[in-house]
Amino acid sequence: MKKIAVFTSGGDSPGMNACVRAAVRTAIYNNVEVVGIMQGYKGMIEGGENFVPLTSRSVGNIIQRGGTILKSSRSKEFMTAEGRKKANDNLVAHGIEGIVCIGGNGTFTGAEIFYNEYGIPSVGAPGTIDNDLYGTDLTIGFDTAINTAVDAIDKIRDTADSHGRAFFVEVMGRDAGFIALAATIAGGAEVAMLPEIKEDHSKIVEFFKGRANSKKSFSIIIVAEGNFEGGATAISNILNKEIPGFESRVVILGHIQRGGSPTAYDRVLASKLGYGAVNALLAGEKNKMAGLINNVITLTPFNDAINKKKSLNADLLNMVEIFNT
Ligand code: F6P
Repeated sequence: MKKIAVFTSGGDSPGMNACVRAAVRTAIYNNVEVVGIMQGYKGMIEGGENFVPLTSRSVGNIIQRGGTILKSSRSKEFMTAEGRKKANDNLVAHGIEGIVCIGGNGTFTGAEIFYNEYGIPSVGAPGTIDNDLYGTDLTIGFDTAINTAVDAIDKIRDTADSHGRAFFVEVMGRDAGFIALAATIAGGAEVAMLPEIKEDHSKIVEFFKGRANSKKSFSIIIVAEGNFEGGATAISNILNKEIPGFESRVVILGHIQRGGSPTAYDRVLASKLGYGAVNALLAGEKNKMAGLINNVITLTPFNDAINKKKSLNADLLNMVEIFNT
């Protein structure tokens, strides 16, 4: 293999740049040229200035930067046969023989379909704050995101304590509660409302009614955005209405969780997986994601990474119950 492409796609995550840097430098070390594709699949389809030659120097001074220097997108056009045909024409014109794709479910789904149609192999690295990919203990960006969330929760705790209030803090995670569960444990919150365990709102109403005698003066409840229709705002409104005298506040952390300088953990993880993805591609692998399992770089078929369900840690779930007695 003489020339490969690297791109980032889907929701950006802190550490994507560290992964790009590792992939580029590993490829160049192996005498393989690298082209960066700007804006993910969108740029692959549009071609032109979206194809940028990358050198060891052009990925200098990015390991500490959040976001992605290659930009990102969620491309609807790549889901069409015409879009993929244009993308292939551009890759062929640039002599690209392999791809390193950094992203999540949608990214890997696209890469596998593309290989089946045009035969250009891809190896992926898991870049998403959601940590919802099977085949890696953690995804790139998750550690930074939970640190950002916990930093915010610590601040909310101060004002919650001062006023003796209940706060509903909404964190990201439409379909996965990994951020919410970790933030609950690390932030010392009382309840985790997770997309995987959807309960009727009456349970949380009962929780607050029953805690009148608990001598706790304030509460922090973590709500994953996918747990409740309308999120933290909706559940807060219901409680304010159903419990006489109850008055809660809502904080939605939102895209703050996606930004910021990656933690040291995320930089090391991203570096390992960028290096691992290129080594795998050069060794002839395809349609696989490089992940870290028990600290070992491991390849998992895209199909499993996307479709197998990564479970929430049972001990963490249990601990939320135990610690809030
Ligand atoms: O997949 C990462 C993620 O941050 C999710 O947690 C969140 O639901 C979604 O992306 C938000 O996507 P967008 O930036 O397109 O609004």
